[in-house]
Amino acid sequence: VTIFIYIAVSLDNFIATPDGGLDWLYAIPNPEQSDYGFADFIQRVDALVMGRKTFETVLSFDPWPYQKPVFVLSRTLAALPEKAIGKAELIRGEPAEVVRILGGKGFHNLYVDGGRTIQGFLEADLIDEMIITQVPILLGGGVPLFGRLPQEMKFRLVGTQRLNDTLVKSQYLRDRN
Ligand SMILES: NC(=O)c1ccc[n+]([C@@H]2O[C@H](COP(=O)([O-])OP(=O)(O)OC[C@H]3O[C@@H](n4cnc5c(N)ncnc54)[C@H](OP(=O)(O)O)[C@@H]3O)[C@@H](O)[C@H]2O)c1
Repeated sequence: VTIFIYIAVSLDNFIATPDGGLDWLYAIPNPEQSDYGFADFIQRVDALVMGRKTFETVLSFDPWPYQKPVFVLSRTLAALPEKAIGKAELIRGEPAEVVRILGGKGFHNLYVDGGRTIQGFLEADLIDEMIITQVPILLGGGVPLFGRLPQEMKFRLVGTQRLNDTLVKSQYLRDRN
């Protein structure tokens, strides 16, 4: 059972501009249309768990980008919009409970996405592996990847790649020793 994050961040550790914008990500030249290893990564995952705000961003993508089941965390939504039917399901509960519920459905390896959502899973020390792709830009402000934690958390670097002479993709495993 592994819980992953796989995310792109600015050098100052933001995942979107203050208004949720991702233009700085789309602007990275990608002449070979590489997926930077995303397809290989997603094979390791049984399901995605994403925050309501990330879900709203993803819902605007055409085509829908995921072949794996997607569970959306929200305390405010009573139901997902009609557009999401067949794509995603609403799920409730604190991170540990979400892991338990999804494990009961056979979804053990989870990809957790969205800043607040990732922070909640980190606070509960539920993230086992982080694949973080650093984009050479300072956004100066925005939606943070990380937040306050009740204690330090060590990670072990297991690999790093330079992609397109632009990005640095690093893989970290949680070191609980
Ligand atoms: N750079 C990248 O690779 C990347 C990746 C993913 C996302 N993003 C961007 O990041 C932004 C979203 O990040 P974010 O930090 O603002 O929000 P987020 O984590 O996507 O969503 C936050 C919302 O998720 C719900 N939520 C989180 N944990 C919950 C829990 N334990 N129980 C119930 N509900 C929970 C709450 O929804 P309610 O308010 O409905 O209760 C909360 O307001 C978007 O702009 C997105 O495009 C960027």
